[in-house]
Amino acid sequence: MTFDPITLAQPSIVSLTPYQPGKPLRELEREYGIEDAVKLASNENPLGPSPAAVQAIKAAVTELNRYPEGNAPDLKMALAQHHGVTMDQLVLGNGSNEILELLVRVFAGQGRSVVFSRYAFAVYPLVSLAVGATLIEVPDQRWGHDLEAMRAAITDDTRLVFIANPNNPTGTWSKADELRRFMRSLPTHVIAVVDQAYIEYVQEEEYPDCIDWLQAFPQLVLTRTFSKIYGLAGLRLGYSLSSAQLADLLNRARQPFNTNYLAQIAAVAALGDDEFVVRSVELNQREGRRVCAALTERGISYIPSVANFVSFQVEQAAVICEKLLQQGVIVRPMAGYKMPEYLRLTYGLSTENSRFLRALDQALL
Ligand SMILES: Cc1ncc(COP(=O)(O)O)c(C=O)c1O
Repeated sequence: MTFDPITLAQPSIVSLTPYQPGKPLRELEREYGIEDAVKLASNENPLGPSPAAVQAIKAAVTELNRYPEGNAPDLKMALAQHHGVTMDQLVLGNGSNEILELLVRVFAGQGRSVVFSRYAFAVYPLVSLAVGATLIEVPDQRWGHDLEAMRAAITDDTRLVFIANPNNPTGTWSKADELRRFMRSLPTHVIAVVDQAYIEYVQEEEYPDCIDWLQAFPQLVLTRTFSKIYGLAGLRLGYSLSSAQLADLLNRARQPFNTNYLAQIAAVAALGDDEFVVRSVELNQREGRRVCAALTERGISYIPSVANFVSFQVEQAAVICEKLLQQGVIVRPMAGYKMPEYLRLTYGLSTENSRFLRALDQALL
């Protein structure tokens, strides 16, 4: 008998298709011999990391011989003050991705189902499949979440419902009143995970930040990240806010040192860097408006987005994507989301967006 690890692995893992990240800049430059490529494919902050975070990291590198504090008290204190919650309501993760993984490990698994929307963030089904949970995908409502249909899809064995607000890759969002109605209707055997990775970018009045709902809805978990507006995607730091009881369960399942020392230090500094956040929002608003107007001028339709990216429709999207790559512009193909005619652009600096538009014009010739 020959050794075949596939026959030994858990079937739930064998069936997984790995997450497809945006093409890294260096990879494109190596493959295409281009030196000044721009990456507008992973919803990163084009302004770079928060400068306060960079300063803090520089001062901390000499202490890397030490393990981080597993419970990250300085960061938890800063987050607790920032959000007006208690430290025991927080769980830190290696990116908010790890929090999503912890949630399915703790609450889902074989014989249990998870509910999510069509076109929602790809990691929800991925982490759920990995633990052997049953997937319940609910049809979208104009690309966004149909919360009433999601409520109706809940079964006796459902333990988690994922709601991305705003959603990636569509940039759609749920209003306070519809989300509140959903929470009120939720049976007590289900936890609602509201993923707020892009919350800082949202400027809509009816958008709920949900923090002051945590008291009223003990089944609510909010996830946030330092990867997007704070510009710290490379450090991997995300967190959840929930009841202390629920947070305690997630904390039992995590690795003792799951968030690294530099990430903890940088996150504390970034959280206080209001000027950077304001500047990032302003740039995003301005460039988002400009890019969308330019798409409209070209007769290209797009899904209205409240986040730092937009998905737009082009014929032969895969070919256009390749032609953009050849010109050193990386956007994200959406075929994996079953949106084969769409490409997703992360708004970059003004010069980067102009370069994208020029490259798009060339690609469409
Ligand atoms: C909706 C959403 N949630 C969560 C994440 C995970 O981000 P991170 O693990 O970097 O915190 C992303 C990243 O793209 C996202 O788009």
